Amino acid sequence: MKILIFWDICWRVWRQALEKEIEGLKRKYNPDFIVASVDNITSGRWAIEKHILEMEKLWIDVATWWDHIFDNEKFIEDYLEKDNWILIRPINFYESEHYRIPWRGYKIVEKNWKKLLVIQLMWEVFMKYNVHNPFIKIEEILNQFKEEKIDAIIIDFHKEATAEGYWMLSFLDWKIGFLYGTHTHVQTNDEIISENGTWFLSDVGMIWALNSVIGADFSSVRKRFLTWIMKWKIKQKLDWEYLLNSVVVDINEEGKCENIEKIKIKGSL
Ligand SMILES: [Fe+2]
Repeated sequence: MKILIFWDICWRVWRQALEKEIEGLKRKYNPDFIVASVDNITSGRWAIEKHILEMEKLWIDVATWWDHIFDNEKFIEDYLEKDNWILIRPINFYESEHYRIPWRGYKIVEKNWKKLLVIQLMWEVFMKYNVHNPFIKIEEILNQFKEEKIDAIIIDFHKEATAEGYWMLSFLDWKIGFLYGTHTHVQTNDEIISENGTWFLSDVGMIWALNSVIGADFSSVRKRFLTWIMKWKIKQKLDWEYLLNSVVVDINEEGKCENIEKIKIKGSL
């Protein structure tokens, strides 16, 4: 089973770069599933329905997000009322019988007689939210699916500290196919396979607008970096150069990862 993974499609530049490159990638790798993160898809912050529908048109099977979606829920509420939405949120936000966070923290997708489980986790170290301990939570969730016939499990973990990622790899060894980090924006060069056949990559990286600070023109973030006053106006050009980072993983019939290929494509809009 081949899974193509993109992280952090944020701003217009990212959406356009993805649209431009995805057909070629599909032809080259022929993935069974495509997973993409859309945390900042609309103006680098929340998501609006229109942009999620654009992702559906590109045949994205699961879209992961973390916290930004809550910045403006009203733009996405209608979409989430639908039966078959592709978005998932971190599974370990605090919830209780008095307060439930809407939507799910995982999605099972079935296609080509194959069944993929994608789980989204939020991590604890240096993150702005307090969440349930991700190790305890993920064990609970995986136990829930123990009896179910699932061909592959992958986990998108939104984390800052590599230590947390590496220890999760040892904690989850055998149980899942691919564990990958997101959030630091930069693709890492540390892919490793554990003794029992789980692949791990600290960060899958994002689609970069080159010569920018996560899509903001250098001059437009000057005030923020010099003064730390957060009120800054983002300036976006129309003719960016971009670097698309992505990974494609191969998972065998035992649910273990056999290969990971990192993808890097430079282009311009
Ligand atoms: Fe993040």
